[in-house]
Amino acid sequence: MGAGKTTAARAVGGVDSDDLVEAAARKPISDIFRDDGEAAFRALEERAIVLALGGGAVTTPGVREALANTLTVWLDVDVDTCWERVRGSDRPLAQDEAAFRRLYDERRTLYAEVADVVARDVDDVVLAAAGVVVERGSLARLGDLVPGEGPVALVSDAHVAGIHGMDAQLALGRRLAETHELPAGEEAKTLATVDRLWQELRLDRRGTIVALGGGTTTDAAGYAASAYMRGIDWVPVPTSLVGQVDAAVGGKTAIDLPQGKNLVGAFHWPARTVIDPALLETLPEGQRREGLSEVVKTGLLAGQPLWELPDDELVRRCAAFKAGVCLRDPHDHGERKMLNLGHTFAHALETAAGYAGLTHGRAVALGLLAALRLSGRDTGEVEEILRPAPVRVDRDRAWEALLRDKKGALRLVLLGDDGPEWDVEVPAEDVRRELGRLIAS
Ligand SMILES: NC(=O)c1ccc[n+]([C@@H]2O[C@H](COP(=O)([O-])OP(=O)(O)OC[C@H]3O[C@@H](n4cnc5c(N)ncnc54)[C@H](O)[C@@H]3O)[C@@H](O)[C@H]2O)c1
Repeated sequence: MGAGKTTAARAVGGVDSDDLVEAAARKPISDIFRDDGEAAFRALEERAIVLALGGGAVTTPGVREALANTLTVWLDVDVDTCWERVRGSDRPLAQDEAAFRRLYDERRTLYAEVADVVARDVDDVVLAAAGVVVERGSLARLGDLVPGEGPVALVSDAHVAGIHGMDAQLALGRRLAETHELPAGEEAKTLATVDRLWQELRLDRRGTIVALGGGTTTDAAGYAASAYMRGIDWVPVPTSLVGQVDAAVGGKTAIDLPQGKNLVGAFHWPARTVIDPALLETLPEGQRREGLSEVVKTGLLAGQPLWELPDDELVRRCAAFKAGVCLRDPHDHGERKMLNLGHTFAHALETAAGYAGLTHGRAVALGLLAALRLSGRDTGEVEEILRPAPVRVDRDRAWEALLRDKKGALRLVLLGDDGPEWDVEVPAEDVRRELGRLIAS
């Protein structure tokens, strides 16, 4: 500090990372430290250096050399679209169409040479920045996709291991050092299960845990990775729709306590996330519906009917939406809270039901109804796609659970005119009325 870095950077036409952090957070660094703490500042700093490089920069050998050690994403857009976007502008190299097309062709070879990832759109760029690969057939490339050279421990749920475990083992090839099975379902997310895994693991610090399964497997194995040897790399390979569009993206890992779900965990961003939508073909219909609630939630937040897309595109778009939110707010201090749309109601209903007879997906579907009604929005789409039927639980228990969950003012995520809003204070009587409408009399 005080060495004159900022002045020096500006003198050579460079930028200061503090400026980028302030731009990303939309407030001064002193405010970030005061409001969110140093850890949040460091996380922003780590992700701040994203450079949109001029199209011709790669024609300089020095730039190509510098890119060799940097994640380089080629945003590959067809020439007609590019020309449409720049024609009539004052860009010096976009005045003549024939010359523009020639330049486009000449540079393509150089882009191919420097690119680590080829992106078609902003969602692809976000996924690349988050280390998320969404690709049909990517399970077969797992050996190449797990970063590093060290040994791999494959952790899967007993059920998924029987279906996709052998393919994962074959794909990992010589990297595979050990395999471990966790119980299927929420039982995986217990301290006893994770403790057993820690004791069985033989990996050293160079090792990587690959977690193959639904959200319970990736949550538990990711948490194990976050603390084993003070933190080793991990790679989730989600196999359920919940996992592919939500649980395996964003770096949150957790186990449950008897007092409640996800009460112990860590933020531990994966070294890579490998999403193969083909794995969903073996998912039972009931589990698919669980994931559909999160897809609809994501579509409502994004303001686009993502649920109408075919599977591969649906997964890509939802994963990218969540990845973008989590890259911008990795520690849940701001916009990441929007991912809880409808969840306050869902948790209250689940608690009142004693976690029996009401799945999380169905509870979220009901919660979305309440959130939409409080936002003054039409509920037709949610009703048509998710068909949420009111649930038979005790009204007072549900209300008490909601108040306990919120501890203090009732602040919810709502959909405003300009998109999602979080920490919106809603009068208690309105919240109670909407909760009541979700309960069968
Ligand atoms: N970390 C996060 O950000 C985050 C976000 C959302 C949810 N979660 C957690 O995710 C968990 C729920 O995840 P889930 O719904 O995937 O549950 P899950 O892991 O229990 O999987 C559901 C069931 O589907 C089976 N299954 C999974 N993939 C399959 C496939 N391809 N073919 C056949 N069967 C398959 C599993 O064996 C399991 O029985 C919860 O514990 C929740 O707290 C975490």
